[in-house]
Amino acid sequence: MTDNNGINGKVIAITGAGSGIGEATALLLAERGGKVVLGARRTERLEAVASQIAAAGGEAIFARVDVSRRDDLESFVSLATTTFGRLDVLVSNAGVMPISPLDELRVNDWEAMIDINVKGVLYGIAAALPVFREQKTGHFINTGSTATLRIVPTMAVYSASKLAVKAITEGLRQEAGADLRVTLVTPGMTSTEGASGVTNPDIRANLQKTIDDMAMPASAIARAIAYAIEQPAGVDVGEIVVRPTAQG
Ligand SMILES: NC(=O)c1ccc[n+]([C@@H]2O[C@H](COP(=O)([O-])OP(=O)(O)OC[C@H]3O[C@@H](n4cnc5c(N)ncnc54)[C@H](OP(=O)(O)O)[C@@H]3O)[C@@H](O)[C@H]2O)c1
Repeated sequence: MTDNNGINGKVIAITGAGSGIGEATALLLAERGGKVVLGARRTERLEAVASQIAAAGGEAIFARVDVSRRDDLESFVSLATTTFGRLDVLVSNAGVMPISPLDELRVNDWEAMIDINVKGVLYGIAAALPVFREQKTGHFINTGSTATLRIVPTMAVYSASKLAVKAITEGLRQEAGADLRVTLVTPGMTSTEGASGVTNPDIRANLQKTIDDMAMPASAIARAIAYAIEQPAGVDVGEIVVRPTAQG
């Protein structure tokens, strides 16, 4: 690890850090010297990731965060600033994809996608933007999806939630000014636990099969996030799309 790798010493808060893309990102950034602050609802998962980081000589703290609750994001950002004195990067990665045909009226799933995928990102902005403005530096990284680039049956609400994230991220980038950086990371099919939240069993099985057949590892997205962070202060990576080669 070098002192000037663009990640070493940065305080990086990551939501959804107990599994999948968030976990892989936490492990990679901590390995490169980032001080990571891990948030999600299952604290036992966060504790396992934090222990792994500590065992490898890295620095990690964690807290229970439900991103659909504004207060939780406020406390999460406060945890970072009170523990480490600052926050350099907020990775708003927590998300769910309980996809299904609209005819099934799985309204609870629709609400979860709006509350977690969209409001979770907004609450992260509400919590971190004043901190970043005060510091005159800071980096938002939000997680989109290639479901914004190709809308297909069963994915209407999920795609809509990620299109909202895309619009919010681009609007934030335009308003951010010269001091802040704003990045949208747009993953294609990635091998994570994301399919487990699909409530329709047939669609869950199909999605899992597609993941098993062609998904890329979560570490591919972690490297994209690291790339955005490690750029010099005046360089803002606007969007990175990463797909498995097999994805059409
Ligand atoms: N896998 C893919 O193919 C793919 C493709 C494009 C985009 N994405 C996006 O990538 C992001 C990460 O997903 P993943 O694929 O890595 O799936 P994952 O392994 O299921 O990870 C999602 C994480 O979000 C957390 N989470 C869910 N609801 C939350 C809430 N209300 N508050 C706080 N944390 C919450 C989960 O932890 P808890 O349940 O413990 O809270 C979990 O750690 C999501 O935004 C997803 O939409 C994934």
